[in-house]
Amino acid sequence: MNNSVTTESIAPLASEKTPEKAKTSNVITEENSDAYTTVGQAFSENAKMSMRNVNVFYDEKQAIYDVNLDIGTNEVVAMIGPSGCGKSTFLRCLNRMNDTIDTCKVTGKFLLEDQDINDRKMDVVPLRARVGMVFQKPNPFPKSIYDNVAYGARIHGLADRKSDLDDIVETSLQKAGLWNEVKDRLQQPGTSLSGGQQQRLCIARTIAVSPEVILMDEPCSALDPIATARIEELIDELSQNYTIAIVTHSMQQAARVSHRTAYFHLGKLIEVNETEKVFTNPDHGLTEAYITGRFG
Ligand SMILES: Nc1ncnc2c1ncn2[C@@H]1O[C@H](COP(=O)(O)OP(=O)(O)O)[C@@H](O)[C@H]1O
Ligand SMILES: [Mg+2]
Repeated sequence: MNNSVTTESIAPLASEKTPEKAKTSNVITEENSDAYTTVGQAFSENAKMSMRNVNVFYDEKQAIYDVNLDIGTNEVVAMIGPSGCGKSTFLRCLNRMNDTIDTCKVTGKFLLEDQDINDRKMDVVPLRARVGMVFQKPNPFPKSIYDNVAYGARIHGLADRKSDLDDIVETSLQKAGLWNEVKDRLQQPGTSLSGGQQQRLCIARTIAVSPEVILMDEPCSALDPIATARIEELIDELSQNYTIAIVTHSMQQAARVSHRTAYFHLGKLIEVNETEKVFTNPDHGLTEAYITGRFG
């Protein structure tokens, strides 16, 4: 599916709007901090989600400044940047998770294909099935492994018969790379699993309601290197069928799993480019400073 028409109707494509290199200075100072241009390729011809002119405030404090970004269909976009730069805040906008924070005010346009996710007609429950989220700490429900995965399918009425539900549970656990490890213990509590297994269980729970987009906020930060490698492999497999936006504090992880990388700095989206370019030959001085470890 090609959404370029819709995309063009809200903002020109990057190729039309911004030359390869930034017109603006590479240094953001107090004086020029409100007017800035994201450098690189923030837009996609095959956008699954399109965000335009996104600003986010917590009470009076602004956390995100005029961000424009597309996430392409079946693309993995990594969001990186120093702690507190707004990665989680931006990610939470994509399935209206910020609605749950009273002080948080979000402006701008968010399209899921051609649907405005903030439209009054858009109910957040089905939205969060279409745009699922995996959190930093694995958070299985205090239920069995089976019921963790079946939970959403039951709520959304995706299975009429027990055998249909069994199928959804098995398929989701298989896609999450957990089936072989748990098929003989489906009635044991989800919390009896190791951390890495719990995170894959949470991924299975997300997959069970047939999402189109999966948001991941530092999904490996509580995991050991082996469990992390397993999730990274999984992200690669999942990207064949799902669109993925992942926040990570690990540059190696961004380099390993993503197609494009978005670099945030103090609430601004500084640069978006092909991941390899971001880590080898970034367009923006701030990106370069970050990837070479000058601040973190
Ligand atoms: N619930 C909240 N209430 C008030 N301020 C918040 C809240 N969540 C985040 N912030 C602030 O918004 C900014 C961006 O935070 P966050 O999105 O968590 O950054 P990151 O995920 O990049 O570390 C920070 O200054 C942070 O203190
Ligand atoms: Mg965060």
